[in-house]
Amino acid sequence: MSTTVAPNTDIALALDDAKAGYAKANPTSGALYEKAVGFMPGGNTRTGVFFDPFPLMFRRGEGARLWDEDGHSYVDFLGEATAGIYGHNHPVIRAAIDDRLALGWNLSGATASEAVLAALVVDRFPSIERVRFVNSGTEANMFNVQLARIVTGRPAVLGFNGCYHGGLLTFTAQTNPLNVPFETVVAPYNDIDATAALIDANAERLACVIIEPMIGGGGCIAASVAFLAMLRERTAKHGIALIFDEVMTSRLSPGGLQAKYGIIPDLTSLGKYIGGGFSAGAFGGKAEWLDRFDPRRGDALPHSGTYNNNVFTMAAGIAGLSKVYTKEAAVALNAKGDAFRERLNAICTKADVAFQFTGIGSMLAPHAMRGPIRSPQEAATANAKLRELFFFDLVQHGIFMMPKRCLIALSLPLTDRDFDTFAGAVEEFVTSRRSLLR
Ligand SMILES: Cc1ncc(COP(=O)(O)O)c(C=O)c1O
Repeated sequence: MSTTVAPNTDIALALDDAKAGYAKANPTSGALYEKAVGFMPGGNTRTGVFFDPFPLMFRRGEGARLWDEDGHSYVDFLGEATAGIYGHNHPVIRAAIDDRLALGWNLSGATASEAVLAALVVDRFPSIERVRFVNSGTEANMFNVQLARIVTGRPAVLGFNGCYHGGLLTFTAQTNPLNVPFETVVAPYNDIDATAALIDANAERLACVIIEPMIGGGGCIAASVAFLAMLRERTAKHGIALIFDEVMTSRLSPGGLQAKYGIIPDLTSLGKYIGGGFSAGAFGGKAEWLDRFDPRRGDALPHSGTYNNNVFTMAAGIAGLSKVYTKEAAVALNAKGDAFRERLNAICTKADVAFQFTGIGSMLAPHAMRGPIRSPQEAATANAKLRELFFFDLVQHGIFMMPKRCLIALSLPLTDRDFDTFAGAVEEFVTSRRSLLR
């Protein structure tokens, strides 16, 4: 009797098959990766871009299109995990950089540009009365948490199970040995009663509650407005700082999810597209708290960082927020994203498969399961291999998303044709893989 199982009845076999096809189609990426292994651990300097058997090596980008080293082209639906909202080589951003290039860089001091970007940020985000720039979202969260600890005089940080706030502060199922050694309390995302009880029970030692109002990279799982409102009420009651990590979600309305929901945290962390596609981060909030960094004060907190006011980040960030991702553009892109997600879900419903897309506006993610998804733990009940298979199947269609997790972050240059291409690929996936998606 034969023991052979057809790829479409066995998920692991289908995935092995897809990976073998991928490796065969991308010999140059494979060879470049092998070389890189000799010099970097696992040939890699950014864990999130690695995937098995080896990552695609990209050579160039233009608009919403990417080209790899083997000469394939892709529609970029990952958009640098939300940082690439302007697409590649946007003419307005490029002109701003060209202007800066002519003036030189590494100018050894302050420039006029940082206050211009700061004013744009303060105008957008309701919680931010004062802002400071850093180089990454990771740093932004570190400074916000430390500021909360100093202002409140308390040690502990409450975060949510399955949430990511940069490589040094994660609340994932497996303990992250690289986490900054803060005292932590871990609460269940979107569970109002359990979280309220944890806040009340630990109030005296909690400096802050940190939350992504929609979990981004971890599957576009939105917090309910009632949950966020409870956090606001409880933290205010106990004098605990509420930090919104809007590194990703700040793009989801002109003023981030805080403005969309009218729930205003004490401190906000930003990053990603805020620097026009260059290394960026920012932390801000109440003037009274941020002014602890005022260097004119005798008791000023130090905040250094050689590249905090990097002229390219400032120039690209200013051009981006003032001329390209305007408030109107933010509304339009997110409306497009909502319609796109509904279109994809209609395809899945019609095919009657256990596959769906969650998210808000311009950020969405697939899950190989039916029913509501309110937490990373619920999402984890889906077979992760199916989503990986979706990634490889769409790569074959010339579509790039976040490896494994399949985060989709829409960028401004995506066209209707690109959306049609993606919808067509989803239709084919749910049809050809139907037997695996029951
Ligand atoms: C919610 C959230 N916070 C923080 C970070 C860290 O930002 P960065 O990669 O710029 O350090 C990320 C990055 O993906 C993120 O998604």
